[in-house]
Amino acid sequence: MLETKKNTIVHPLNFISNKDFTQKKPITVLSPMAGVTDPPFRRLCNELSNNRIGLLVSEFVSTDGGGGPFLKNRKELKFYPEERPFGVQIFGRNPQKMAEGALWIEKHLSPDFIEINAGCPVPRVAGKGGGAGLLKDLPRLASILKEVKKSLTLPMTLKCRLGWDESNINVLETLKIAENEGVELLTVHGRTRVQGYNGLADWDWIGSVASKAKIPVIGNGDIISVKTALEKLNKYPVAGLSIGRGALHNPWLFGQIADALEEKPPSKISIQEALSLFKRYYEYFIVEDATPMRALGRLKQLAARLSKGICPWNMALRSALLTAESPASFFEVIDSFLDSPVAQKTSFNPDRLLNLNGKKEDSIVYGAQFKT
Ligand SMILES: Cc1cc2nc3c(=O)[nH]c(=O)nc-3n(C[C@H](O)[C@H](O)[C@H](O)COP(=O)(O)O)c2cc1C
Repeated sequence: MLETKKNTIVHPLNFISNKDFTQKKPITVLSPMAGVTDPPFRRLCNELSNNRIGLLVSEFVSTDGGGGPFLKNRKELKFYPEERPFGVQIFGRNPQKMAEGALWIEKHLSPDFIEINAGCPVPRVAGKGGGAGLLKDLPRLASILKEVKKSLTLPMTLKCRLGWDESNINVLETLKIAENEGVELLTVHGRTRVQGYNGLADWDWIGSVASKAKIPVIGNGDIISVKTALEKLNKYPVAGLSIGRGALHNPWLFGQIADALEEKPPSKISIQEALSLFKRYYEYFIVEDATPMRALGRLKQLAARLSKGICPWNMALRSALLTAESPASFFEVIDSFLDSPVAQKTSFNPDRLLNLNGKKEDSIVYGAQFKT
């Protein structure tokens, strides 16, 4: 039986206002992922967990253009009432413009919180001084937080990395700035910007931030199973876990963690259930007016990771899914596999995954994925 920290878990939104968010929600967050965590994917994860994801966040959206005209039709901003508590994540480098954008979002969309991104490593964001680029310019980060906070009545949260590179780990300074500027929840992704997504996240650093923080700290990096989730919760004083790529390997993970925290027996997902998920996911895109080919692209994105849990490993099935030329042929691959005798001997076991990077990386690698 996996050990859980019974009765010691506080929902990260306990800190926020006097809104009545259910305290029973577990302390998981679906990490914002651009190009992944749009309404269909969030709906999928949320429904599979029976609405037990603690927090849902939008894909990030640039607010360097300010408010209305730049944000009015941004598809990243759409969310549904059942997703609450829901946060919109914004990024940029211009304090005044970001404050204008945040205010517009608060006024017109009324999410439950606004999150500032200080973690995105990609050159078109970090290289221009936004996202993780802010970790190289903490006075700018402080000024963004100050201006955004001034414009908002909603809670403001922050997501950051450990620092720019191994020689410039400044997450404790970021924490101090966050606390001084009124950030109400800090999510720490335990890698530097330069690391990108290489190696394992450094959870000792996350733990160190959480132990010094006066605000709740959510740990982020490499949660791929109930076991890894409970290990982190038991070992580090974090207020919760933010799960990104693991959700693409196992969209049931949030519900499974919730079950474990509620001391329910673990549920197994059959291969039929795992593969049938794609039809449901497809429908979620169609109701969002996605074209069939765009929806197919997203089915393949999910299949690329989810299929790694197919046991025994089935390369032929995976390639057939990833090379399907239409939604109909994608579903034909699934149907004929499920009708075949091989399906009887196949299971879905995402826990067989060792890490999220497709190779055996079992240590922290401070090597560079991105150039400094
Ligand atoms: C495709 C992709 C897109 C991402 N987009 C965002 C984003 O928009 N905002 C953000 O804060 N983090 C973004 N991230 C980072 C994730 O939120 C998360 O911090 C990171 O994947 C580490 O968590 P994991 O090990 O659970 O995946 C993205 C990650 C990926 C893989």
